[in-house]
Amino acid sequence: MELRIGVVGTGAIGEDHIRRLTEVITGATVVALSDINEENARRIAKKYNAVFYKTGNEVIWSPDVDAVLIASWDPTHAGYVLECIKAKKYVLCEKPLATSAEECLEIVNAEIQGKKKLVQVGFMRRYDTGYRELKEMLKSGIIGEPLMVHCCHRNRIPGPQHTTDMTIKNSGIHEIDVLRWLLDEEYESGQVLTVKQNKNAESELKDPQIMLLKTKSGVRIDVEVNMNSHYGYDIQCEIVGEKGVIRLPDPNTILTKLSGRNSYEIYADWSFRFTRAYDIEIQQWIDSIKGSGPVGPSAWDGYVACITADTLIKARKRETIEPIIIQPRPEFYC
Ligand code: NAI
Repeated sequence: MELRIGVVGTGAIGEDHIRRLTEVITGATVVALSDINEENARRIAKKYNAVFYKTGNEVIWSPDVDAVLIASWDPTHAGYVLECIKAKKYVLCEKPLATSAEECLEIVNAEIQGKKKLVQVGFMRRYDTGYRELKEMLKSGIIGEPLMVHCCHRNRIPGPQHTTDMTIKNSGIHEIDVLRWLLDEEYESGQVLTVKQNKNAESELKDPQIMLLKTKSGVRIDVEVNMNSHYGYDIQCEIVGEKGVIRLPDPNTILTKLSGRNSYEIYADWSFRFTRAYDIEIQQWIDSIKGSGPVGPSAWDGYVACITADTLIKARKRETIEPIIIQPRPEFYC
């Protein structure tokens, strides 16, 4: 049976997911889509033989749509996810789940009230081969207990609407989620350092920023989130353990020997670096919702990431170390 998917938001990643659902993924067809950029959405609808709807809610409530993928701007996520829960439809929402922890809790409570897990959040790094291998190695105990984690999240240039808060809530949120998943424990406190300003950054934008996190067991994490690397999209993660060190494969591309030089390509953005992770994420989402329901990052994971990001932003503004206070995990998400 082909699952009929509706897509809300057909910008960069929305269009890429539609291509993926059509050309790579098995068992699903994109039948409906919507975007406030009607001209672009109509072009994509024509290309993929889907029906264009004026509003996201019409896609969500359409009887022709079995499940929904949300890839619109961050502030629109919560409203659409709540609508999907009302319509009792499975939804894969791109990260972040919402722009505040309060909105995430509203989603969590609505899902609990509906008594069915419907929501998955697009934290696709959990599906990346490198991160998966790191997790397996950590579990095997080969480097002993992890003690420290050093990460870099470098973007070539920021998007046009990028803000200082989004560096944490939109970009750094990937590390917030994936490190919590890798280490399998919660955060205790966080801090954000701003550094000498990159003069290539917009004057309003504090860039780069360093997120510092401490987990409950005392693991220390530093993440450079840099929106203006100018050289490419570069993701690094090194875990220092009691007996050794493990690193995400870097470089992630083929070594080329040419014209007297060794060189590696550095990807321009996320779409190249994590292509395979998105493929696996979406295929598993489709397979799981055809079965007993989503098994990927839940609304609860979306909430924990968001409250952590909110706390880090508060810490940056106050120039303090802030405790990360997470509500007790409801039985529903255990
Ligand atoms: P984009 O700006 O290229 O596309 C967003 C689209 O949403 C635009 O076409 C815009 O017109 C549309 N939109 C805005 N408000 C809307 C509304 N109320 N209803 C329907 N459509 C609306 O941005 P991009 O890069 O595609 O990002 C979209 C979302 O995906 C963001 O939330 C972002 O955080 C997430 N994302 C996730 C990535 C990942 O690695 N998991 C990578 C890139 C983006």
